[in-house]
Amino acid sequence: MADHELFTENRSAEVVAASFADTPDTRLRGILTSLVRHLHDFVKDVELTTDEWAAAIGFLTETGQTCTDTRQEFILLSDVLGVSMLVETINNRAGGQFTESTVEGPFHVVDSPPRELGADIAEDGKGTPCLVTGSVTGPDGQPIPGASVDVWQANDEGFYDVQQPDVQPLRNLRGLFTTDDTGQFRFRSIIPRYYPIPADGPVGRLLKATSRHPNRPAHIHFEVSAPGYRTVTTHLFVADTPYLDSDAVFGVKSSLVREFPRVDDPARAAEAGLPNPFRTVHFDVVLGK
Ligand code: BEZ
Ligand code: FE
Repeated sequence: MADHELFTENRSAEVVAASFADTPDTRLRGILTSLVRHLHDFVKDVELTTDEWAAAIGFLTETGQTCTDTRQEFILLSDVLGVSMLVETINNRAGGQFTESTVEGPFHVVDSPPRELGADIAEDGKGTPCLVTGSVTGPDGQPIPGASVDVWQANDEGFYDVQQPDVQPLRNLRGLFTTDDTGQFRFRSIIPRYYPIPADGPVGRLLKATSRHPNRPAHIHFEVSAPGYRTVTTHLFVADTPYLDSDAVFGVKSSLVREFPRVDDPARAAEAGLPNPFRTVHFDVVLGK
């Protein structure tokens, strides 16, 4: 065997990449070759010690062991490392023309109940009332009647219904709406609170070890779809929430932050079916083709 085919510190990535040369799937070959190159560069850059590599293996093992039917610690790891947002952003380039996307998160786990336009998704009536209105249009501004607008959010204490099965009714603060003939939607809700991502596992320990907090700024999730258009999975962020500039999962895009102004107008409150005063927000969603 020629010496130049053997593993050395200098040629490590080259030698391992060559082992993938016969991979029939060219995309897989490209991904593995690049992965090995970056991984070896990283190990050389930090001169990883044997103990550190063992600790990393232990951490990844525990990350896998923390996964259950309802908890995905690997996605959480990808989230706090910014990889989820990077993949999301690369695959949904909006170019300033379409509504920007952000991470789906782990709480879209039950189907949102279909509701009539104007319905109140706060089934337990707790929290600061808010009227949410908006529109769904295509790239040239054409209204999209019949678009699906799926929304889910935390309550005013920062918990989703599935996290508090004994406190909140299942499907509280969730709704599946269909835009009207002019592509508009509206529903009643409450102002959500910021909340921590699950931090009692290895990802939480990583945050603690790096002096990072686990919080996400207050937001309402949207998944908007219509036949013939690209689905967008996104959030609406509350402008006056803490953590807008330090989201634990890097999900904030400035185009998604909205003021939720307070309205003190008994006639408007009566029209919306909300107590006075209330808060309001408007979200125009633009879908790409
Ligand atoms: C969420 O917004 O629901 C979420 C996103 C990423 C990690 C945890 C929660
Ligand atoms: Fe969320």
